[in-house]
This record gives sequence, structure tokens and C-alpha cells, in this order.
Amino acid sequence: MGTAEITAEQGAYAERAAALALKLYQKTPKACVITFGCQQNVSDSERLKGMLTKCGYTITEDMNEAQFIIFNTCAVREHAEDRVYGNIGTTKALKKANPDIIVAVCGCMAQRQSVADKIKQSYPYVDMVFGTQVQYRLPEFIYKRLSGGKRIFDLTLDNGEIIEDQPIKRDGTFKGWLPIMYGCDNFCTYCIVPYVRGRERSRELQKILAEAKEMIAAGYKDITLLGQNVNSYGKGTDCGINFATLLRQIDALEGDFRIRFMTSHPKDCTKELIDTIRDCEKVSSHLHLPFQSGSDRILKRMNRHYDRKKYLELVNYAKEQIPDLSLTSDIIVGFPGETYEDFKETLSLVKEVEFSSLFTFIYSPREGTPAAVMEDPVSREEKGRWFTELLKAQEEIAERNIQKHIGKTYRVLCDSVGSKDGFMSGHNSGTAVIEFEGDKGLLGKFVTVKVNSYDGVLLGTVE
Ligand code: SAH
Ligand code: SF4
Ligand code: F3S
Repeated sequence: MGTAEITAEQGAYAERAAALALKLYQKTPKACVITFGCQQNVSDSERLKGMLTKCGYTITEDMNEAQFIIFNTCAVREHAEDRVYGNIGTTKALKKANPDIIVAVCGCMAQRQSVADKIKQSYPYVDMVFGTQVQYRLPEFIYKRLSGGKRIFDLTLDNGEIIEDQPIKRDGTFKGWLPIMYGCDNFCTYCIVPYVRGRERSRELQKILAEAKEMIAAGYKDITLLGQNVNSYGKGTDCGINFATLLRQIDALEGDFRIRFMTSHPKDCTKELIDTIRDCEKVSSHLHLPFQSGSDRILKRMNRHYDRKKYLELVNYAKEQIPDLSLTSDIIVGFPGETYEDFKETLSLVKEVEFSSLFTFIYSPREGTPAAVMEDPVSREEKGRWFTELLKAQEEIAERNIQKHIGKTYRVLCDSVGSKDGFMSGHNSGTAVIEFEGDKGLLGKFVTVKVNSYDGVLLGTVE
């Protein structure tokens, strides 16, 4: 079956599920989607909500009033998994009070066989568990369960064709996600993602452009291209274009909007990409480029395929070329075998680059990854101390960086209400958040703002 037929088949299941659900619940049923993890999951959840809408459900934020509850899970660190188990546990009482509700667990954590087995055994009130590559079959799963079928466990991960044209119900009205690729082939030794998301698969150029056009026509002003490694876009497809070219093509679409993207991998980051960010008016001045560690010895053991020198060359070039660039990064502290000397290399890189902001994590062993069986003699407490040292250094840098915005004028997309009465808030083309006088009528609009001061928040006046 081709992907168009698959989508049509799921559409037919959705209609049948809608009729069954209405009959069973005797009212329009409600569905609650609870999302953990990264933007990929947030984006997947928008597609889950699209399918649920087709299945006749309205979407609610309140789990207590829902007839269908789904947890879209993350497996990247242990803490993420613990939170999910706690949340699934709370549905036990709901299900007891009302056995007709359906509870589902999907996403990265659900993809792991050990997790699916544990749920099968210890969480009998969970009706369905399915993995990341079969989410498009949700209408079929609902139909089968509603018509009395047994519990569903489907962890198929065959890296097949991407199923396009799924229904979607976006969370936002002017900021939106646009996935350009799925999965990851990099196998960084600490990371579970390649095991739970499968091989890297790029979407077809025409599908991406069509979705971008749809979003622009619907009024989206801030579009974030998503993928675990966006800058290796195109690998394995016959479209013959790379990520920089994709950016140029989206930049050339008509309309007033902004393009963001994440995540880029330093090994695939080229001067061509940096020049493209510089040259394309709609591509934002933000580069999220995770370096993970400043020590070459640790980078090798992480299987990252770049070294400190190459990383610094790239970010220095980016800073030279792109005025007002926001540089952000991810860092892991306490990778197995990391010494305080290695950690100091991370700290010195942070001080040298002066990032706008950082996402910092203490290493969390993930079963099945190579790092999980590496010797790890440093205690959690010691790692905690290094972590605090890093946070403190970054706090000072961020404080200095934020002052640099004073006196500058930016185009700001108004995206939320401000912290004070009568003020609205928005982002510049980078990651700076600026507040200015205004009302809700400005939401989703671009305004030109001159930054005057910093007082916990950047304050400016609309020009
Ligand atoms: N594909 C992206 C990010 C994926 S996960 C990239 O390559 O950068 C997001 C971040 O979680 C990673 O950048 C890393 O810093 C962190 N991370 C991944 N696995 C981890 C682990 N086992 N322990 C702690 N942090 C981890
Ligand atoms: Fe994980 Fe590395 Fe892939 Fe990022 S690039 S998702 S850190 S394996
Ligand atoms: Fe988590 Fe999966 Fe994203 S493991 S970080 S939700 S790709």
C-alpha cells in the first residue's frame, strides 16, 4: 500500500471510530493528550490531536473529563521516564470509576520493549502502547479497541516511508512546528534517541514546502523546522538538496514570517549554512548548536565527530557573519569517565563563547546505549557540584549578554502578555525576550521595538 492509501485507510477507520465512540459514550467524547519531551513530541502530539479530532473527539486539557487519555512520552533521561510512570498511575482511579475510558501510552519511552512489557504486566488499565513510527495508526487502534478488541501493543520500527498528509490540529495560531526529518543516525554513545526514533528519514522537499505555504497562508509568523539533526537534511533522498538550500527555498516563499530550526549538529554545520542564515532575511539570527563537552577526549567517547577546535571555528565564524546572533547549546556534565580536568574544558569553552543561554544536563545512563556500560567512577554528588559551577558561570555570562541589547532596535514578534499590566512581550529574531507597552491586539504581529533598559526583563518602546 502506498502512503496515500494508508492515510485514506486511517481516515476510514477514524469515521468508524467516531460512530462507535458516539454510540458508546452517548455524547461527543473528549480526548486529553499529555506530552513529555522535546519539540518533536510536541509536534507529534499536534498530529495525534488531528487524528483524535477526526475520530470525533474534542480536545481537552483536563484529564478528569476525558474519555481518551494519551501520554506521549520521552526517554532521553531517567527523570523523564519516572515522571511518566507517575502520571500513568493517576489514570487507575479514573478508569476504575469509568471503565469505558481508553488510556494510551505512545512516544519514545513506549517504544522500548522493556517499558511496554512493564506496562503490560503492571498497568493493566492501559489499553494501548505504541511506538514512534506507527502513530499514524491511532484511528485504527481506537476503532479496534472500541469494538471490543484486546489490548494493543505495537512497537513496529521498520523505518519505512514517512506517512504524509496526516490530519493536524496545531496548538498555536502564529507560532508553529514543521518537521523536516525524523529519526537519527548519529548514535552518540549516551543517547537513546536513535533506538526509539529509528533511522534518519527526510521528508520530501515538496511536502515541506506545501506545509510551509499552508502555515503562512493560515497566518503563521514563526515557523520552526524540526529534526534531531536538521542540517543533515536530504541524506538518503533523491531531492538533491541540502539543508542550506531548503532554508533558501522556504525563505523565498511569499509572506511576512520568520524561520527557525533545531537541532543542528556541529559535524554537519558548514560555512554555507552560516552564510545562508546571514543572507536569508526570514531566517532568524539564532543558532542552537549543542557541543555537549569541551574536552576532545570526551567528545571522542561520545562519538560526536568534531573537536573543540572545529566547534570554536564554526561559532566564531557565525558570530562574525551574523549580527546580533543568539547562540545556544546543550551540555552534558559527568559523562562516564569525565574528570574534573575534562569538565574544566567545558567550562572554559562556555566562558570563551558566551552563549545566550544553555540547556545543561547531568549525564543519565540509558540502558542499551554504549555509555551505559562504560565505567563511571565519579559520584552523582561530585557531578552535581560541577553542574552548579557551570550554572553559576553561565548566569554571569547571560546577565552580561542581556545588557548588550540595551539601545538596540529589533523587529519583535508579539507572542504573549507581559509581566506588568499594560505590557506585551515578544521575541526578537534571536532568543531575546522584550516587553513593551501594548494590548492583546498585538498578539501575532511584528512590532519594531527599541530596547531601553533591563530590570529582570528587557523593556522597550514601540517605534
Ligand atoms: N539531536 C539533538 C538533541 C537530542 S536530545 C542533538 O544532537 O543535539 C537533547 C539533549 O539531551 C542532548 O543534546 C543532550 O545534551 C541531552 N541528552 C541526551 N541524552 C542524554 C543522557 N543520556 N543524559 C543526559 N543528557 C542527555
Ligand atoms: Fe541523540 Fe546524538 Fe542523535 Fe542528537 S545527534 S539525537 S544527541 S544520537
Ligand atoms: Fe525525548 Fe524522544 Fe525527544 S526521547 S527528547 S521525546 S526525541
